[in-house]
Amino acid sequence: MQAKALPGFRDFYPADLALRAHILHTWRAVASRYGFEEYDGPPLEPLELYTAKSGAEIVGQLYNFTDKGGREVALRPEMTPTLARMVAARANGLKKPIRWFALPQLFRYERQQRGRLREHFQLNCDLIGEPGPLADAELIALAVDVMRAFGLGPGDIKVRLSDRRVLRTLLLASGVTDQQLPAAFQAVDKIERAERRALAEPLAAAGMTAGTIDGVFAAAALRGLPAVEAALARAPGGEETGRPLRRVVEALGAMGLGEFVEVDLTIVRGLAYYTGTVFELFDAGRTLRAICGGGRYDGLLEALGGVDLPAIGFGMGDVVLAELLRERGLVPADVSSIDVFVAAISEQDVPEVLALAHELRDAGLRVEYALTTQAVGKQLRLADARNARAALVIGPDDRARGQVMLKDLRGQGQEPVDRTQVVERLARMAAVV
Ligand code: HAM
Repeated sequence: MQAKALPGFRDFYPADLALRAHILHTWRAVASRYGFEEYDGPPLEPLELYTAKSGAEIVGQLYNFTDKGGREVALRPEMTPTLARMVAARANGLKKPIRWFALPQLFRYERQQRGRLREHFQLNCDLIGEPGPLADAELIALAVDVMRAFGLGPGDIKVRLSDRRVLRTLLLASGVTDQQLPAAFQAVDKIERAERRALAEPLAAAGMTAGTIDGVFAAAALRGLPAVEAALARAPGGEETGRPLRRVVEALGAMGLGEFVEVDLTIVRGLAYYTGTVFELFDAGRTLRAICGGGRYDGLLEALGGVDLPAIGFGMGDVVLAELLRERGLVPADVSSIDVFVAAISEQDVPEVLALAHELRDAGLRVEYALTTQAVGKQLRLADARNARAALVIGPDDRARGQVMLKDLRGQGQEPVDRTQVVERLARMAAVV
């Protein structure tokens, strides 16, 4: 029998789960601030949901199999196709724009590497039914505000922002044909990870001249809105095409988030369905992989559900984010602790321990007691190990007087408290934390 978890899958020990809970809690809180509602779908889906539109990269990473009913199925590698199907099925009844978020666990059979596992949790936020650039800016602002809620600022993370329509216009202007566009997009997408020579080869094989290939690299090298707009001014229809990108940058500036944003046309995104604005969030030092990626996908609901609705969204994974939070010391201190430990001096005190512990739990306090008869010293050591704020020690003498001994485990003092007062007294103490 294999004793270890599968490669790329995580065991979450309580301290790991505390960080995961912190991440999911923060994701939910910020998404709610933007008026997003939570939804979910099945973790297992028909295989063709992904083969239809997600693109070769993700299809190559699917966990898929034939189920006992002979259906071709896959564990969900991303949430967007499920969302598109769900929205398309009820499109008429839903008030637009639709603002939905989900926190799915996703599965991809990827080569395991730093920041990439075979399962991860992903915040998905999508805005459906609004084609304009303010929707794009709203989504990007949400992603940035999630980062800010974790304590990360513009010195820690950057949004790299592009627009596939802009890149397309610049590529066509440098002589790339419609048929050659997919090859050119792929080369730009890989520009940071491969040598120029290796990237130029397939472009030449697709029939591009040396001058056109230079044009592809020149477009990818543009940084910042002014440089992109200058290049667009020389391309047919360029000014018009550049307008949404400018509006997105301006809107983010008006929100006070301008410092986070860098226009960078090398952001293309691996998924096939994006049609306009695309963006990724990275740590500012760029030592880690992308924390978040998304963009506009105006054709996907039509393709998967026959409903023509524009959409924009992003996915933010927990793996790189957790690494960044650890690196920056932004993981909250271990909060695993209890409020009260109830100890018994003798075996005859145990029924009173059980009664009092139960009353305290009913009052909402976190309570533990020893499950076997043991010396008081040993019980108090367990209370310490549990980080308890207080201990209640119940003994025959105090019981006879209708009292229990309250020990302050953070301050060391102790005092007898009337049995009738003890729940209220401790509830007050726990509320002051
Ligand atoms: P994606 O770029 O494939 O986009 O994934 C988004 C984020 O999920 C990545 O930036 C990364 O943080 C995380 N992620 C992806 N794969 C892994 C992995 N194997 N291990 C750890 N983390 C990973 C999408 O999935 C799109 N469906 C997002 C979207 C939503 N677009 C529109 N709406």
